[in-house]
Amino acid sequence: MDKNENILSIKNLTINFGGLKALDDVFLDIAPNQVVALIGPNGAGKTTLFNAISGLVKPDSGDISYDGKSIKWPKPSQLAKYGIARTLQGVGLYSGLTVLENVMMGADKHRNSYFIKDMLGLSSSNESSLKDRAMDALAWAGAAHLSDLSPSELTYPDSKRVAMARALVMQPKLLLLDEPAAGLGQDEIDTLAKLIKDLKRKCAILIVEHHVDFVSHISDEVYVLNFGKVIASGSFETVKRDPAVVAAYLGTDSSNHGGQL
Ligand SMILES: Nc1ncnc2c1ncn2[C@@H]1O[C@H](COP(=O)(O)OP(=O)(O)OP(=O)(O)O)[C@@H](O)[C@H]1O
Ligand SMILES: [Mg+2]
Repeated sequence: MDKNENILSIKNLTINFGGLKALDDVFLDIAPNQVVALIGPNGAGKTTLFNAISGLVKPDSGDISYDGKSIKWPKPSQLAKYGIARTLQGVGLYSGLTVLENVMMGADKHRNSYFIKDMLGLSSSNESSLKDRAMDALAWAGAAHLSDLSPSELTYPDSKRVAMARALVMQPKLLLLDEPAAGLGQDEIDTLAKLIKDLKRKCAILIVEHHVDFVSHISDEVYVLNFGKVIASGSFETVKRDPAVVAAYLGTDSSNHGGQL
């Protein structure tokens, strides 16, 4: 069937938190080099879906297939091996490390051992290539000039660039971005949109985002979640006219969404 066409294929995924159905029979497919946006009101289950793909939450039922193989509940440590990278909602940099060290931390399957070696000055032959890759990733994200700073010295938009570089450094096949445009000004959002369009040549990208205008520019396909269910999927132009989507957005405070659909 379509087994090998999609890099990620989610079917019938259900996750309960106590009595709350955070995800309810969710499906989602991403083809290689496709940008898919996941939108929906606050609390719809978007981050929970990311957490399931990254192995942080165990599904109650359903399946997640990656590159044609079921990875129903991946161990977070397996993600780098698969080539799945994510950024967190917020930024999540380590304050005790420089920007470059933060990015190097994202680089490897054995990140902790590299990290400890590096901190102890026991540099392996891998260290210089790791540094080069980290600098390349920073350059890609437009943050090479920030490499020696500490995260506390960064502006918010710059810290988001660094978080992106940390995800890119492992050269992922699938990149999960949780609200990359949140808190950014229009110029920075435009730059991010360009970056994502470039990145698409290298990997598939799943983006959770409230900024509707940004979503309309970058997405090949949009999935809309509401109360844990996929209520619509398709092109942005199709989903924005879907009555269920309009109702979901009208039923919530539009100030949370950076604009209505
Ligand atoms: N670990 C958890 N334990 C219990 N409930 C949780 C947990 N994580 C999320 N939830 C609940 O599950 C629902 C979905 O939350 P989730 O964070 O996935 O929403 P979201 O779509 O990412 O929202 P936002 O747009 O605000 O980031 C919410 O009702 C949330 O309170
Ligand atoms: Mg969220």
